[in-house]
Amino acid sequence: MENICKNYVIAIDGEAGTGKSTLAKNIAKKYSIVYMDTGAMYRIVTLAMIYNKINLDEIDKIEKLLKEIKLEMTNENGEDKFYLNDEDVSKKIREKQVNDLVSQVSHIPVVRNSMVDLQRKLAQGKKIVMEGRDIGTNVFPNAEVKIYLVASAEERAKRRFEQNKEKGIDIPYEEILENVKFRDNNDKSSSVGTLKKAEDAYEIDTTNYTLEEVENLVVEKIKERVDINENS
Ligand code: DC
Repeated sequence: MENICKNYVIAIDGEAGTGKSTLAKNIAKKYSIVYMDTGAMYRIVTLAMIYNKINLDEIDKIEKLLKEIKLEMTNENGEDKFYLNDEDVSKKIREKQVNDLVSQVSHIPVVRNSMVDLQRKLAQGKKIVMEGRDIGTNVFPNAEVKIYLVASAEERAKRRFEQNKEKGIDIPYEEILENVKFRDNNDKSSSVGTLKKAEDAYEIDTTNYTLEEVENLVVEKIKERVDINENS
C-alpha cells in the first residue's frame, strides 16, 4: 500500500532520435504517470531568443528573458502541446531555425540552470517519466529508474525523418543526418549538460530493436525498481 502511493522519477536519457520520446510517452500513457519532454523546454527558450533577436553570447538579455517568459506544457486530448507566452509553439519548436540553434542554447549555463530548476520543481510530488540528456546524471541523480538509449546516427536520422513526415514537417534526410551528427558532437563535448550515461543507468542499443521490444525491456527494468501498475 505504501509503495503504491510513493512518487518516483523514471529518467530516460540518450542521443537525439533514439526513440526516447515515443518510449517515454507510451510508458506515461500505459501507467497513467506524468510525461515531461525536457528537450522541448530548451526548444521553447531557443524560439524565444529567436523572436527577441537575442544572440548566444548576450547573457544579460538571456537572463532577463528567462525571468520574463511563460513556458507551459500541457496534454490536450492525448496530444502534447507547448506554449510560449500563451502562443501554441508545438510545431514551431520542431522547425529548422530551432533545430539549428537549440543544442548551443541548451549549453548556456544560465539557460541550463534555469531549466533544471524548473524541471525539478515541476516534478515535485509526482510519478513522472522525464526524457532528456542529463536527467539521470544531473537533474535527478537519485532517480529510481535510469534508462540510457543509444542507436546509430543513420538509424536515428531515419526515425526523425519519419516522425517529421507524420507531423507534416518537410526536412530532407541528409539534412537531418547532418544535424543529428552536429548535435551529437555538441551534446557530448560541452562542459555543461554533457550527454553521458549515468553509472547506474540501464543501457539499450535500440538500432536493431522495434519500439515494442525496447518498451518491453524498459518496463521489465522499471518493474524491478518501482511499484508500477497499468491503469494505476
Ligand atoms: O530531445 P530534443 O532533440 O528535443 O532536444 C533538443 C536539444 O536540447 C538537444 O540538442 C539537446 C538539448 N537537451 C539538453 O541539453 N538537455 C536535456 N535534458 C534535453 C535536451
